[in-house]
Amino acid sequence: MSQDTVSIKNNNTGQEAEFSLLQGTLGTPTVDIGSLNNNLGLFTYDPGFVSTASCKSKITYINGGKGVLLYRGYPIEQLAKQSSFLEVSYLLMNGELPNEKELFSFTDEINNHSMLHEALSGSLRGFHYDAHPMAMMVGVVGSLSAFYHGQLDMEDPEHRRISALRMLAKMPTIAAACYRHSVGYPIVYPRFDLEYCENFLNMMFSRPSETYIDKNNYIDPVTVKALNLLFILHADHEQNASTSTVRLASSTGANPYACIAAGISALWGPAHGGANEAVLKMLAEIGTVENIPKYLAKAKDKNDPFRLMGFGHRVYKNFDPRATITRETCHEVLAHFPSNDPLFELALALEEHALKDEYFIEKKLYPNVDFYSGIIYRALKIPENMFTVMFVIARTAGWVSHWLEMMAEPNHRISRPRQLYTGYDKRDYLPRESRK
Ligand code: SDX
Repeated sequence: MSQDTVSIKNNNTGQEAEFSLLQGTLGTPTVDIGSLNNNLGLFTYDPGFVSTASCKSKITYINGGKGVLLYRGYPIEQLAKQSSFLEVSYLLMNGELPNEKELFSFTDEINNHSMLHEALSGSLRGFHYDAHPMAMMVGVVGSLSAFYHGQLDMEDPEHRRISALRMLAKMPTIAAACYRHSVGYPIVYPRFDLEYCENFLNMMFSRPSETYIDKNNYIDPVTVKALNLLFILHADHEQNASTSTVRLASSTGANPYACIAAGISALWGPAHGGANEAVLKMLAEIGTVENIPKYLAKAKDKNDPFRLMGFGHRVYKNFDPRATITRETCHEVLAHFPSNDPLFELALALEEHALKDEYFIEKKLYPNVDFYSGIIYRALKIPENMFTVMFVIARTAGWVSHWLEMMAEPNHRISRPRQLYTGYDKRDYLPRESRK
């Protein structure tokens, strides 16, 4: 019996077959069960894909037990402290860190693609002013497929590269435009003299009559540094729900902008990227440190749908390395912007209570990246309903990188899972008059 295979025996029929045992550069050995149905007439059943690898990828590696997160081999802790979001985006998309010339030309291309077609702002005006910005993001990003469709040749690597660049370049412009629409302000165009995060802040908050102090307030170096860091931390995370959505939609050959819009829809859920907004709502509901035990009890009560937002993770079972970094940044940002905002102290107290609680220890539930990011965004004066939009801007780097990786595979196939059917067996049509 070979060392790099796994035998599966159907004890029901006595049939047995061997399947290749694949070993990546790092991580869990993986059984290639593609021929399971042909060899043994069996499917596998894995709702939520807890033990299922959907693809091979070189982009991001996570070790959930050790709290390891690598982007193209580089530890997230090093990138968070030393890199910029655009440099990390280049790394994720191209596989290597850019040299000065490559970063300059990448930044120049991003600037050149950061404007929106004027007709696109029309699709924004179709939304009621109080529409949730995530609803607007899904609609406006999806409508990019109407502007870039005919001339797209997905077999042409240069067309794919430009499409990926366009999405990364336009996402902050669209995000800021959604915010401006929601507050009734005119859209602010991107500027080529500002760095990516500065540009976004300017498109969000600038006003015609701004004084230097106003501008200094929102293009403050601490704000820009915190934004760069949060975007780096949220840029990619292997086959999470929204990235898997982008991959599955793209496997049909659909327009890439429509596929990214599908990823935005998936990210919106409170179990995924919507958690950062949900954390703030939860902290506001808890209100005081005295109420924490009551809410911890609700989180443990199987009959109560309440969950501790910002806690738990499908992969990280000891700690989310991104949460450790955002917790430190939280301290820095709140020290810089003194506010009597009680939510940070409440968050610290909630974390302390939960980490000592038997239930959370036994279930290995720790703060994830979204536990502190919302508090930082709040301190940076980002409106709460824009928190998940911030996640969209960052994760666009990961989505387009996985899209490029998948589309470059010579024989990528349409993703089409099977099922375990539990419905009726075959039965005959019952004429209406004879139904009870
Ligand atoms: C992100 O996948 C990614 O990589 C995502 C992400 C990324 O970068 O893309 O990291 C970003 O989405 C972070 C997660 C943000 N979501 C939240 O903070 C929402 C709160 N967390 C939970 O909804 C939950 O922990 C999930 C969705 C994150 C993980 O869900 P799983 O892996 O399906 O875990 P589970 O629901 O099977 O829970 C296992 C047990 C259950 O109890 P039992 O049924 O075994 O008795 O733990 C309990 C759950 O009830 N549990 C919680 C809990 N999370 C899990 N109980 C209370 N509060 C929680 N937050």
